[in-house]
Amino acid sequence: MSPSAVSSLNSQLEPLLRGRRVFLGITGSIAAFKAQDLVRALKACGAEVQVALTDSAKQFVTPLTLETLSGRNVHASLWNDGHGTHHIDLARWAEVFVVAPATANTLARMAHGLADDVISTEYLAFRGPVLVAPAMNPAMWDHPATRRNVEKLRTDGVRIAGPAAGLMACGEEGEGRMVEPDALLEAVAGCLYAPSNGKRALVSLGPTQSRLDPVRFLTNRSSGRMGASMAWALRAAGYEVTAVCGPIDPAVRLPADARRIDVRTSGEMASAVLAEWPRAQVYASAAAVLDWEFAEVHTEKLKKEAGVMPPSPPLQETQDILKAVCERRRPGQFILGFAAETRELRAAARRKLASKGCDAVFVNDVSKPGLGFESEANAGWWISSGDEREIPRASKALVARSLVDLIEGRTPKEVRPAAPLIEGNA
Ligand SMILES: Cc1cc2nc3c(=O)[nH]c(=O)nc-3n(C[C@H](O)[C@H](O)[C@H](O)COP(=O)(O)O)c2cc1C
Repeated sequence: MSPSAVSSLNSQLEPLLRGRRVFLGITGSIAAFKAQDLVRALKACGAEVQVALTDSAKQFVTPLTLETLSGRNVHASLWNDGHGTHHIDLARWAEVFVVAPATANTLARMAHGLADDVISTEYLAFRGPVLVAPAMNPAMWDHPATRRNVEKLRTDGVRIAGPAAGLMACGEEGEGRMVEPDALLEAVAGCLYAPSNGKRALVSLGPTQSRLDPVRFLTNRSSGRMGASMAWALRAAGYEVTAVCGPIDPAVRLPADARRIDVRTSGEMASAVLAEWPRAQVYASAAAVLDWEFAEVHTEKLKKEAGVMPPSPPLQETQDILKAVCERRRPGQFILGFAAETRELRAAARRKLASKGCDAVFVNDVSKPGLGFESEANAGWWISSGDEREIPRASKALVARSLVDLIEGRTPKEVRPAAPLIEGNA
């Protein structure tokens, strides 16, 4: 897991995981060392993590390391606490129950309802989402007994993450590797998503590009972070998400189950968005689509010549995607426009609201350092007809969650009505 991928994913998942109570059972697999990274990532997202270890797991990782990483006592025995309900306390406490890595042995215990160690006992007492990440030698994974046990667990509603294929610690190659901690982190957060609301959300994000010749193009500074945050927040609220992505920063992550359509030019983005819109209930137009593009794409590289003035290639207007979407809106569809401005933000947002015909506009100031473009934070105003709200500075993930609340008619606690507009404070 590269550090940039971790921080990008962490920032997206933090609003979902902050303050949530995660039980993490670690069992006797060589992959137990990766569970330590999962604890760190969960803690970085603000989750409370309670670790439990089987006896075999203690051969691979130490309670001391996990106590240090989780900041809580590790539970490594059914018998070491003494008070009456110790064996089910964690099941009562936890909101999500994770076993990673899960050995063939522990999967069998769970599938058959045995309760002879701390993980299997707490599992039987737990009512809520359960996620297991099997890790074992490919032959063990392929054994009919393991397959039967995994199927039983699936039938019982347990979510199975992986395993992945690849080179194993035992030197064999095949299916059986535990999925990587970043994928597990997302799977844990996925257990906390709202149930499906049966609706589809369409998000466009990132910049577009216009090619001049084989080596040069025109683009803008959008990284895609705000749009990706919208995709996560909508997914977490129970929407099925389709993301139309310009060439976004590769470190920007989308939910694994979002449908992703990659485009480069403004024309490609327009075609993809307009094709998807009829099936969506919400459109979040977070892409920074070029307003102008080169009128002609040169097939040969334009050469610099001594004494000759540089070329001024003619530009032409691109299609106004937001307007086109608004013109095709059916009753019940909601359109949120985004406006990046450098002055008179609210007035500019109101003009955009009226001229495009969308339901609301989120406007932010891109002239302020550390906000908007290429940054993790944002702030701005939600402008809809008759309602203006200030969205104070926060991570893009939190701003996106506030915007999704507003789309759904809820008032997030961070958001306050905007002060009346006085000339000059727009
Ligand atoms: C070096 C070593 C590595 C092991 N790795 C795995 C593994 O990746 N997956 C697995 O299912 N069992 C593995 N085992 C076997 C388990 O540790 C063994 O079945 C144990 O009883 C599991 O107990 P537990 O499920 O209570 O943790 C390994 C054993 C050894 C000695």
